[in-house]
Amino acid sequence: MPGPARRRVLVTRRLPPGGLDPLADAGHEVVQRPDDEPFTHGQLVEAAADADAIISVLTDPIDRAVIAAAPKLRVVANVAVGYDNIDLRAALTAGVVVCNTPGVLDETTADLAFALILATSRLLGQAERDLRAGRWTGWGVDQYLGQDVYGATLGVVGYGRIGRAVARRAQGFGMRVLYHTRRPRDEHGHVDDLDVLLRQSDVVSLHLPLDDGTRGLVDGRRLALMKPTAVLVNTSRGPIVDEEALAVALEEGRIFAAGLDVFEHEPEINPRLLASPRALLTPHIGSASTATRTRMARMAAESVQAVLAGRTPPNLVPMGPVAGVGLADPAP
Ligand code: GLV
Repeated sequence: MPGPARRRVLVTRRLPPGGLDPLADAGHEVVQRPDDEPFTHGQLVEAAADADAIISVLTDPIDRAVIAAAPKLRVVANVAVGYDNIDLRAALTAGVVVCNTPGVLDETTADLAFALILATSRLLGQAERDLRAGRWTGWGVDQYLGQDVYGATLGVVGYGRIGRAVARRAQGFGMRVLYHTRRPRDEHGHVDDLDVLLRQSDVVSLHLPLDDGTRGLVDGRRLALMKPTAVLVNTSRGPIVDEEALAVALEEGRIFAAGLDVFEHEPEINPRLLASPRALLTPHIGSASTATRTRMARMAAESVQAVLAGRTPPNLVPMGPVAGVGLADPAP
């Protein structure tokens, strides 16, 4: 009896060892470039042409052109919980299903968010940079005076799995937790009005997906509502924050500090943020642990394998009605 058909799976970047085993085990052909260079858009369109499946990462624009160039394509599995790099409308129209990697990266990403909360509140970035550069000439009682995390109020914006994981950590640090979400939960601390949460919080941590409703959400007006002693942390998606407005707020001391793992135009970083001693900047490493990145890769590979075998994977991105796609899942 012939075995299941061998399909061609385009994998756009190098993935952790073992991550693609489910595809190899199923006998599918994995197509990868020999190096870890990201495909240009043109190369992606070309490479997608005979793919039955694509395993993409968040920097790959899987747009209408890529999907249109791939007549055999059945599934795109993004090795990320966010999927704002994928044109869901084009996918839906072409009958291509989209999968992401929810759940397996929550704790790792929450760890990073909490690391940024601690580091920005206590000015660790600035202090470490000064020490390395020889600018620290000896102990002083009024040097690097930060904000206490213990006893502070944390405002979690977006209360999906990662937001809740950050809130759990905050409880261990004796923080009061408030949260704002588009899908209110029956849990203590919910604040209906984001502006109120921003006014009341000492630390604001963003855990939203990027979509039309969240792009530019933290703009100049909202930053102005925050306390001058407050800290902003963003481990979700850069374009949720107006970076220019944030740079001005930091320069003018209208907020205390910011910890950013994501940026509006990655990998470009706003020069005013780069110049700001109160901005602690990390290169989009929220889920970057060996175990978590391996789990994410396997989950993507298993999703592809399931779709190619005619099964429905559990981590399908909800696509209908497409207009509400981002709103339907406050996953990050
Ligand atoms: C990372 O940013 C992700 O969406 O998984």
